[in-house]
Amino acid sequence: MKVYNFSAGPSMLPEEVKLSAQRDFLNYNGSGMSVTEMSHRSKVYDEIHQEAIALLRELMNIPDNYEVLFVQGGASTQFEAVPLNLLVKGKADYIVTGNFAGKAAKEAVKYGDCQVVASSKDKNFTYIPDVDKITFRDDIDYVHLTQNNTIFGTRYTKLPKVNAPIVADMSSNILSEVFDVNNYGLIYAGAQKNIAPAGVTIVIVRKDLLDNAMPICPTMLKYKTQADANSLYNTPPCFSIYMAMLTFRWLKALGGVKEIQKINEYKAGLLYDFIDGSDLFTNPVNKADRSLMNVPFVTGSDELNAKFVKEAAAAGLVSLKGHKLVGGMRASIYNAMPVEGVQALIEFMKKFELENK
Ligand SMILES: Cc1ncc(COP(=O)(O)O)c(C=O)c1O
Repeated sequence: MKVYNFSAGPSMLPEEVKLSAQRDFLNYNGSGMSVTEMSHRSKVYDEIHQEAIALLRELMNIPDNYEVLFVQGGASTQFEAVPLNLLVKGKADYIVTGNFAGKAAKEAVKYGDCQVVASSKDKNFTYIPDVDKITFRDDIDYVHLTQNNTIFGTRYTKLPKVNAPIVADMSSNILSEVFDVNNYGLIYAGAQKNIAPAGVTIVIVRKDLLDNAMPICPTMLKYKTQADANSLYNTPPCFSIYMAMLTFRWLKALGGVKEIQKINEYKAGLLYDFIDGSDLFTNPVNKADRSLMNVPFVTGSDELNAKFVKEAAAAGLVSLKGHKLVGGMRASIYNAMPVEGVQALIEFMKKFELENK
């Protein structure tokens, strides 16, 4: 049976990427070694490392005044690394649009005067606050926001106009649509949704923000440490970086981020249109703020939701259970989810609706 994996993360990877890794698993590029066992100081690994960085630069059109870092600890470690590196005046503003945005803000208060200046908690994070109406404080080092909210299924379609660098957590929508890197001071993202297996975390940081870390900042969390060593200060997560390189190659061959954005808009459009026309399923998110990557939906009955998740899994549509903070279902339709997967989900939803009227 064909299985479509709608997991929010770790998530499905492109078939071609997995096949390529499988083919080369025991003997990468004639080296007689697997990427899982080769020295990170070897020439053969170095080529992978350099290609991954170069391809990410190309795909995201990253300007020369930005550094690309491959670090570890997941996006969660960036919740601390960001304030530890970027607080100079000691003040930052946070917009809280979900669970992870809240976690980031909670870590930051340990290191300075970091405040939540806007939140969508009043409506269980079903919308993005109007960024033009947010009052930011003077003299802040940065504004932190979560570009796509994985659990609640919202995304920013517009950035605040603010006289400070914007720091964005793009863990669940990096490379899913075109972003102008120039609009950000720093972008970070765990790899395990749109890029690779868990392990590597991407940090894209403007060079003038790179060397301001607090004296207490651990060496391993200092962006300068990683920048000076081209992300080879210590042993990097080589296999995850290798898989990232394969995904970047796949995306480039497909036509790049512009092309995948069109496909993502099409896929999400199919699913939202079906849900909006359905008598059984609803999506709780403010239409203008809907995510292209994570689509939560409910039936209005816990019992029916549970039945849906169980029967969908039996039909090969797996990991559709919603996060416990939202309940119901959630379909994560990242870059690697083919259009056919979304179509199969919609067909199943139609059938379920008819059977459960
Ligand atoms: C938007 C967002 N930020 C941060 C995280 C935490 O990432 P990690 O598990 O890599 O620490 C996640 C995980 O799902 C996420 O979706």
